Amino acid sequence: MAKKRNQDTIHEIRFTRYSDEEEESQDILDFSPGVNIMALKLGEYRAMFRDFFSFRLFGNNLGMDLGTTNTLIYAKGKGIVLNMPSILAMGRKDGRIVGVGKEAKEMLGRTPQNIVVVRPLQDGVIADFEATQKMIEYFISQVQSYHPLVGPKLVIGVPSRATKVEKKAAVDIATHLGVRRVHLVHEPVAAVVGTNLPISEPVGNMIVDIGGGTSEAAITSLNGVVISRHIRIAGDEMDQAIILYLKENHNLFIGEQMAEHIKINIGCAQPSSRNEKMKVRGRDLSTGFPNEIEIDSEELSNILSPVVSTICEMIESTLEESPPELAGDIMERGIYLTGGGACLKGFDKCVSKRVHLLVKLAPEPLLSVVLGVGKLLEDRELLSIVETSPDSE
Ligand SMILES: Nc1ncnc2c1ncn2[C@@H]1O[C@H](COP(=O)(O)OP(=O)(O)OP(=O)(O)O)[C@@H](O)[C@H]1O
Ligand SMILES: [Mg+2]
Repeated sequence: MAKKRNQDTIHEIRFTRYSDEEEESQDILDFSPGVNIMALKLGEYRAMFRDFFSFRLFGNNLGMDLGTTNTLIYAKGKGIVLNMPSILAMGRKDGRIVGVGKEAKEMLGRTPQNIVVVRPLQDGVIADFEATQKMIEYFISQVQSYHPLVGPKLVIGVPSRATKVEKKAAVDIATHLGVRRVHLVHEPVAAVVGTNLPISEPVGNMIVDIGGGTSEAAITSLNGVVISRHIRIAGDEMDQAIILYLKENHNLFIGEQMAEHIKINIGCAQPSSRNEKMKVRGRDLSTGFPNEIEIDSEELSNILSPVVSTICEMIESTLEESPPELAGDIMERGIYLTGGGACLKGFDKCVSKRVHLLVKLAPEPLLSVVLGVGKLLEDRELLSIVETSPDSE
């Protein structure tokens, strides 16, 4: 269909797809000459019809932080529209979906034999393709009820260590959803953009993302990751350390949800002057009956200390590998902590003590990556510079 763009009149509205190079605002509509409708300018028509049709016919352009623990979605022009646990509950035999996200998380440790609760992502990458696909389809249906397909563009954050195969899995899922253009962005880059740090300047920014499944330390400069390191130890490992401690020292068996609750409520990376206490319920392993004990934050700082220390070692070794110019920048600018795991009380102070540098918690640690992909969704030029190819290792 021929494109006629400089018309002030409208006769019929036809739908067409413009080439990728053109403004995506012209993805949707084509106008041909005819009846003059009032005094509206073509631009105003475009904006009006774009808002209406882009949502109903093609869905929104979206950005996604597909994390091991949480999935967040950003819709262009709207902001964050979804923040859900990356969990799916399915029928054990037929694979029927019984719950997704928050609902599925509440089922953890409470399911009968015929229901299985799965986390389709592991260590920040897609581990169960089919389950991830089902989960994303559900999330998309929650954010755009009019149309099952995502808009023409989807930006997904991927760990900077993601392999070709892992990136392809993300692209395949997006393509299955009807997305025309999938853009992959390294998560540290997205986190730097989402934290409002200068990604394009020739200065080093160090960002440490402590998620649920993985911790990744990266130094960025000039729109890319210069060096990065990761370990498969993060927030979930803290929960496991609490479960193990209570089992071995208090004979108390607790579930993952209770462990996370304890960590978030009174967990800390180092002893603090305020020693908080909390009652913990579980099953007594010797009697088999429900039991309750009290635990305090000093005890927790000891339990969590090995995990915190391992993450600090990763930060140290990333710094050791840093080129001298960038090391100088980091000395001046400090290290930024992000990801949910970084919200553990006193984590920033603990890292600062260890590396003798200024350490700051990002303003929105759980949102940095999705805010970054969202900003890139709104900035086509920067997106084209920072995106990573699905074919690169
Ligand atoms: N206030 C808090 N204190 C301690 N830990 C927290 C707090 N809030 C969230 N967490 C932990 O943060 C982790 C989830 O963080 P996040 O959402 O950044 O992970 P993710 O992006 O899904 O995982 P990954 O980046 O590893 O793929 C969970 O382990 C959760 O228990
Ligand atoms: Mg993450």
